[in-house]
Amino acid sequence: MQTLLKVENLYKSFGDIEVLHNINFEINKGDIVVIIGPSGSGKSTFLRCLNFLEKPTNGKILLNEKEMKDNLELHKKIGMVFQSFNLFSNLTVLENITLAPIKTKQLSEKEAQNEAMKLLRMIGLEDKKDVYPDNLSGGQKQRVAIIRSLIMNPEIMLFDEPTSALDPEMIEEVLTLMKEVAQKGMTMVIVTHELDFANDIANKVVFMDEGKIVETGTPTEIFKNPKTERLKEFLSKIK
Ligand SMILES: Nc1ncnc2c1ncn2[C@@H]1O[C@H](COP(=O)(O)OP(=O)(O)OP(=O)(O)O)[C@@H](O)[C@H]1O
Ligand SMILES: [Mg+2]
Repeated sequence: MQTLLKVENLYKSFGDIEVLHNINFEINKGDIVVIIGPSGSGKSTFLRCLNFLEKPTNGKILLNEKEMKDNLELHKKIGMVFQSFNLFSNLTVLENITLAPIKTKQLSEKEAQNEAMKLLRMIGLEDKKDVYPDNLSGGQKQRVAIIRSLIMNPEIMLFDEPTSALDPEMIEEVLTLMKEVAQKGMTMVIVTHELDFANDIANKVVFMDEGKIVETGTPTEIFKNPKTERLKEFLSKIK
């Protein structure tokens, strides 16, 4: 199996407070990694370090064996979907989706529009292309945010609690789209509290606590046979 992303001795501090302590981690091409852990354990900070939204204090991140530096190239290769959608409210759905590929010259305006319409059709929202995000439901916003990331053809997609801001009836449509994206072979790292979904989709689960990776394993190992007391306690609290 080909290592796509490798994290070596990653540390992150905010001022005097160290929130990530010596994270070591590997992702293979096609992996679906789910990260779980209590609030404040550093899950978001870790994801944000992976695409340099936060600059690691120490350590190395290698993509295809090449050490990554914060640059535009990197942001094209690693997409991110946030809990709060982060769509531009002054741009239409179509403009939101085509902004990055046009700005980075990855696609011409025409190509970007064609590709965006293809993706909108895939999620059944082609009739919303000229609508502003405020006129979409939460589930629709999040699905648009996912295809906005997909259009850049990233090597890895990161998801930070993509369904936790949604009303319950909209969670399923977002999870379904994420499963479709996974089935197409996308490499994904997902922070979520949806354990059934995690069990379904992940081939690797990472449990973080207090800025460290405490356990890594298959869904069965992590959910059915947790080794550490900390993981057992965490699972008993959220089940
Ligand atoms: N920009 C920042 N400045 C200072 N401290 C921060 C910053 N971002 C995060 N932290 C701190 O880092 C720690 C880890 O936060 P992080 O958001 O990564 O946790 P999390 O596991 O994602 O939690 P949650 O499940 O609540 O989203 C917390 O103690 C948080 O207060
Ligand atoms: Mg978080």
